[in-house]
Amino acid sequence: MTALTLSTSSAATLRADALVVGVAKGAKGPVIAPGAEAVDKAFDGNLATVLETLGATGAEGEVTKLPAAAGLKTPVVLAVGLGEAPAKGDGFAPETLRRAAGAAARALAGSKKGAFALPVEDAADAAAVAEGALLGAYAYDKTNGGGAKNGKAAKGAAKDAKDGKDAKNNGPLAEVALLGGKPRDKEYKAAAERATALIAEVNRARDLINTPSNLLDPASFAAAAVTAAKEHGLKTEVLDEKALAKGGYGGILGVGQGSDAPPRLVRIAYTHPKAEKTLALVGKGITYDSGGISLKPAGHNETMKCDMSGAAAVFAAVVAAAKLGLRVNITGWLALAENMPSGSATRPGDVLSMYSGKTVEVLNTDAEGRLVLADALARACEEKPDAIVDVATLTGAMVLALGNRTFGIMSNDDAFRTALHEIAEEAGEASWPMPLPADLRKGIESPVADLANMGERMGGGLVAGIFLKEFVEDGIAWGHLDIAGPAFNESGPFGYTPKGGTGSAVRTLVRLAERTADGDLG
Ligand code: BES
Ligand code: MN
Ligand code: ZN
Repeated sequence: MTALTLSTSSAATLRADALVVGVAKGAKGPVIAPGAEAVDKAFDGNLATVLETLGATGAEGEVTKLPAAAGLKTPVVLAVGLGEAPAKGDGFAPETLRRAAGAAARALAGSKKGAFALPVEDAADAAAVAEGALLGAYAYDKTNGGGAKNGKAAKGAAKDAKDGKDAKNNGPLAEVALLGGKPRDKEYKAAAERATALIAEVNRARDLINTPSNLLDPASFAAAAVTAAKEHGLKTEVLDEKALAKGGYGGILGVGQGSDAPPRLVRIAYTHPKAEKTLALVGKGITYDSGGISLKPAGHNETMKCDMSGAAAVFAAVVAAAKLGLRVNITGWLALAENMPSGSATRPGDVLSMYSGKTVEVLNTDAEGRLVLADALARACEEKPDAIVDVATLTGAMVLALGNRTFGIMSNDDAFRTALHEIAEEAGEASWPMPLPADLRKGIESPVADLANMGERMGGGLVAGIFLKEFVEDGIAWGHLDIAGPAFNESGPFGYTPKGGTGSAVRTLVRLAERTADGDLG
């Protein structure tokens, strides 16, 4: 992973491959953002004019590279757009800094060292720049197959490495030096350490999501969790298909029974000796969603390796909490299965006996996420956590409602939903509160079971939430994050967001853990 250092050097004296400066959109053209004074000086105070000549406007995400002026110790200056200049006295918003740093880091892929001279007024700004740069400096390493388990992929990797392909030429920016930071200041140091731990875990989630489904199945995902748990002193428990059958996990088994790769339920627990609260996090981990017998048509199945993004986020968040030593207990539940059609697959019309004791008529085998989550939620509730949050790429309807960059938040508790929305905002993740309208409940009634797994088409994201609520114990605050939109970026990269797996919800979950540890959640 990309290294992060706080540097006291002046922008004019630090050796690096590129010097990153901020440029904002002013009333009369681009203006150089604070932090780059020494750089501007090296250009005789003409950097804004030079940039304008090159066509720069300061628009958000815009990247302009130019040869450095004499006297600077880097060959290249990279100006990154920050958007509208803030009103006098106001600084740039953390998310603006995060995105700009990310865009700059992406533009420096393949370079060794970038020196970031962006406007940093306090430790929170330093945190934003650090996070953005580390998030932007991500590249999925195609050569390792992300934990390849078959010899073929490994051989291909060896060949690529010999040819000097991929990782070497297009690997991420290797080192981020943050200028304007105060390495000896406690707050800055903590911000840098937190960013390093947090973003390593966001990138862990991205790696898992980007790994093709033939290289990551429920068993290998569970094995990856066990390995990481050992490294970080976490406790894991893995229920395989036999244990799931013995335990009565009809939802997880019903979804997984069509696949040659059997399902798993993983419990991964972080505990702190002085913790006062316990959080349960539940992740949808469908390592591939073909739709099952209700098969998805071509055009809807190409990206369905991403359907374990919720489990990846939960796993990453638990590891991050451990690395950060947060004073809270967190139990992560990874509900892992592959949804495939076959002679042993669940049929539309079948009735499953769920872990909670309820029965569910499976009207559509493509509404599988709620089935695996239902079992994991019911199991998680048995341990009486103070709050429980599930994360899932659950419905296309939520993508229709909120688009590709915003996740929906549903809850059985209005105050908790509001808190989750604020926490996501704080973490720099776009989200929006959604209701669970009582009138939609009748749509999931079944003549042959306690519930059906599908209801009205309209408001499909909310119907899924209403279904999940049936498996959460009354009195436990529960939140549901439907990340179907932002989990996987099918278009081009932007800001600090790469193409492919984004690591959506990891930062929100970690912020939730921090707030819970600090006793800020009641
Ligand atoms: N994994 C999908 C949801 C999804 C869609 C995730 C697009 C990411 C991008 C989920 O399992 C699914 O198929 N949901 C169905 C539910 C329906 C059959 C009630 C859907 O949304 O169409
Ligand atoms: Mn599905
Ligand atoms: Zn799915």
